[in-house]
Amino acid sequence: MTVLGFETSCDETSVAVVQGGLVRANVVASQIRLHAEYGGVVPELAAREHLRNLIPVAQAALREADLSPKEVDLVAATRGPGLPTALLIGLRAAQALAFALNRPFYGVHHHEAHLYSPWIRGRPPRASFEDFEPHVSLIVSGGHTLLVHVWAEGRHRLLGSTLDDAAGECFDKTGKLLGLPYPAGPWIDRLAEGGNPNAHGFPRPLRDDPGDDFSFSGLKTAVRYYLRDHPEVLTNEAARRDLCASVQAAIVEVLVSKTVRAALRLGVGLVTASGGVICNRALRRELSRACGEAGLRLLLAEPAFCTDNAAMVAVLAEHLHRLGQPPTDEDAEILPDWDLEAAHA
Ligand code: KG4
Ligand code: ZN
Repeated sequence: MTVLGFETSCDETSVAVVQGGLVRANVVASQIRLHAEYGGVVPELAAREHLRNLIPVAQAALREADLSPKEVDLVAATRGPGLPTALLIGLRAAQALAFALNRPFYGVHHHEAHLYSPWIRGRPPRASFEDFEPHVSLIVSGGHTLLVHVWAEGRHRLLGSTLDDAAGECFDKTGKLLGLPYPAGPWIDRLAEGGNPNAHGFPRPLRDDPGDDFSFSGLKTAVRYYLRDHPEVLTNEAARRDLCASVQAAIVEVLVSKTVRAALRLGVGLVTASGGVICNRALRRELSRACGEAGLRLLLAEPAFCTDNAAMVAVLAEHLHRLGQPPTDEDAEILPDWDLEAAHA
């Protein structure tokens, strides 16, 4: 089966070709530089860029996979959640192609697709579910922080999410307070490497709360007050590194401890993780350490599949098709606020 997948839910235009789990092409045009100027994603600009990039990105993916559109068996696109105008472009293009080729179309849930990205492994990258087992999955990006119980193949239940800011948003907003460019997550990652994570005892919001929800706005506010009272940090390189390392340590500690605790409580033997924030090196290290200590297997999405990509969309669609899920209507609408619980829970 050859699947052509489209992803345009936020600021990455991506088209991928997946064949029997094998990722034959995964082309991503990132708009980060465009939005950096505004300190965040501007929906109308994102939509305009998707319009501009979608056809060249699709052509590049087909060329890389050495494939003609007629050889595509199934077309898939992200249906939601995401920015409405951005979603519309990828979804409508994919539906039009499915209609023209007379092929089935799958409109998939963006976070359900993230659940599949840690299973894309190796060189060349291939999705394989031979060693699938029930697990807890952490999805952390600029817009979302989700803890999900995947209790069977293609079946899941949302355990918790953030009550306010997402973990990536916390990286980005504290980085902004430090004068770092958007998105600040990768900058904090690099600056933290030379800093002392114990320099500041910033709060670990909801770490010890028995529920699975997260909250990061209090941590951002603590950093804001600290910088208001200690403006000298902004011009002192060592102090900036200590602050980055301490903020990062607080975010990482909350994410890791709540994920491992949920996995142990539910009695699963595996933890998976994906989303842009999973590129963070300290988070990858700490998750490995804590899962090892707790006797849990860990599957971390490779950095290329952590951030938004169409390979995970195509992999999910191929999987749903194999599981016998019916295709989506060719004229189905976007679902910008689609609840993960509503998709194959
Ligand atoms: O999944 P993603 O590419 O886009 C969505 O938000 O959907 O995630 C982007 C987020 C941003 O908040 C960015 O700062 C964060 O992921 N991020 C990181 C790192 N790389 C990306 N945060 C911390 N450390 C990193 N190395
Ligand atoms: Zn995402």
